Amino acid sequence: MKRKSSCVVAGGAGFVGSNLCEALLANGLHVICIDNFRTGRMDNLRALKREPRFTFFEADIIEALPTSLRRQRGIDWVFNLACAASPPHYQADPEHTLLTSVMGTRNLLAFAEQVRARFLLASTSEIYGDPQTHPQVESYWGYVNPTGPRACYDEGKRAAETLVFDYGRAQRGEVRVARIFNTYGPRMRADDGRVVSNVVTQALAGDDITIYGSGRQTRSFCYVGDLVAGLIRLMAYDGNYSGAVNLGNPVEMTIHELVGKVLRLTSSESRVVRRPLPVDDPQRRCPDISLARRLLNWAPQVKLEEGLRRTIAYFAEEAANAASFPIGNPAGTSTRRLTRRSSARLSKMKDTSIPQMERTFINP
Ligand SMILES: NC(=O)c1ccc[n+]([C@@H]2O[C@H](COP(=O)([O-])OP(=O)(O)OC[C@H]3O[C@@H](n4cnc5c(N)ncnc54)[C@H](O)[C@@H]3O)[C@@H](O)[C@H]2O)c1
Repeated sequence: MKRKSSCVVAGGAGFVGSNLCEALLANGLHVICIDNFRTGRMDNLRALKREPRFTFFEADIIEALPTSLRRQRGIDWVFNLACAASPPHYQADPEHTLLTSVMGTRNLLAFAEQVRARFLLASTSEIYGDPQTHPQVESYWGYVNPTGPRACYDEGKRAAETLVFDYGRAQRGEVRVARIFNTYGPRMRADDGRVVSNVVTQALAGDDITIYGSGRQTRSFCYVGDLVAGLIRLMAYDGNYSGAVNLGNPVEMTIHELVGKVLRLTSSESRVVRRPLPVDDPQRRCPDISLARRLLNWAPQVKLEEGLRRTIAYFAEEAANAASFPIGNPAGTSTRRLTRRSSARLSKMKDTSIPQMERTFINP
């Protein structure tokens, strides 16, 4: 990979963003992270704070960007990952979600234009809605409900893509768009309501495992390390293709199959309970990643079982730390069931509402 001097990661305190910041630092780059802590956590940046090539700004990308950030020079890449990504979180304040995608993307595009940096938008498979074709290729225009409760996210991202491609067409800067499919791994939040975090935390706590609908709906799950590698490759891509690129794992499975795997890996005795399917929940979701393979020579490497093991170990360690009550071995590789006390803590962690904005500031 060609070395770049500095990059900006908006949404860098989140699940994917913090993993991306870590990978960019490991590649020798200077990383400037922006986040408002809507869904991100200072804890995700704990290890990065010690790194001299890491700078943090607490800011909301909907507002004017901080002056000291706008004065920065030598920035080559701007990644925009800022946006709550799980339905309960993005639906908690739909107006903010929509404006983050539209106003926030516009602010960051203007900044990228000013400093002549390449811009990458973290878009989503949700722009395909409840798709009518399988697997989803980039040329598919989608089947989205523009007025339902998910529209603030789906339509926000579609509008953000429109803005990005308009900037590109007007030659105001080089742009990249990644359409990200379901991603899982360490630093997901226990309370984010996504399928992998739900099932793993319920299995570890010995709680009932909730399956929405029949459980026959399919998803494909990409390990976060694989996704981050794809994002960096797409940003570094110097070729002529200028459209969106799907990044995800093309191995499709039912929610039932996923639950079976998690129950086995955690040796959990949790029962499975059914709940009605949420509004506009897609029935099938699977990326066609031929384009990413061809352009970026990229494909996911981490098998689901291995990724789940790492994720289970992460949540087990989180629960133990929250309880100040160690379980498993120090390397965090244990997948055995939690003690009663840790499992109670885990159930409690899941109930925790999104914390108020944290105010800690890390200075360059
Ligand atoms: N994780 C997935 O499976 C997935 C799938 C598709 C797309 N994506 C996209 O990837 C990106 C990252 O997703 P994630 O899973 O890490 O979600 P996340 O919620 O963990 O991270 C989003 C981050 O953006 C921050 N943020 C939100 N609004 C902001 C604003 N207005 N100003 C500044 N910061 C703001 C949050 O505090 C958080 O740190 C999102 O844009 C999401 O749409 C993720």
